[in-house]
Amino acid sequence: MADHHIEVMISEEEVNRRIRELGEQISRDYAGRQIHLICVLRGGSFFMCELAKRITVPVSLDFMSVSSYGGDTKSSGVVKIVKDLDDSIRDKEVLVVEDIIDSGRTLSYLMAMLQDRGPKSLHLCTLLDKPDRRVVDVDVDYTGFRIPDEFVVGYGLDYDQKYRNLPYIGVVKFD
Ligand code: IMP
Ligand code: MG
Repeated sequence: MADHHIEVMISEEEVNRRIRELGEQISRDYAGRQIHLICVLRGGSFFMCELAKRITVPVSLDFMSVSSYGGDTKSSGVVKIVKDLDDSIRDKEVLVVEDIIDSGRTLSYLMAMLQDRGPKSLHLCTLLDKPDRRVVDVDVDYTGFRIPDEFVVGYGLDYDQKYRNLPYIGVVKFD
């Protein structure tokens, strides 16, 4: 890893406040229904846990893992299912929870694949969105923060598997 340091982009308080708002909004939108949350591992895990705690309608959880990045900060364009869901999503109200949408390649592939499995509804919630980097169009229903084109870490996001545990969103600055 090149010499680098981390600068705070979005503080812990701001992230927590926004997740609380998203939880309230989602709870209103899904009033009277049950949500099946799908966490995209590993980056989505911190966000999913915090978001789930703020949702007041009944929730069930499942996890899947796809890979599109190596130990690099650039997209390889290759999307591979590393771990599939445990449960069927047929007739469920599915909400996919992702850490960040960058090129959009991962999510457009994933959402199409999930749609084919016959959910009752399928929506997408992302903590972060880098719209400037979009290559493939993705319909995002809930966005925590729109951020500029910078490589970020923390709250589940990594740089070469490090920094996922930071309680804030940080920018990687190369020295
Ligand atoms: P996409 O297919 O280009 O949208 O890539 C999405 C995935 O790339 C995310 O789920 C992250 O795992 C990873 N990624 C994209 N941008 C960043 C970043 O700034 N920091 C850490 N991981 C990122
Ligand atoms: Mg990810």
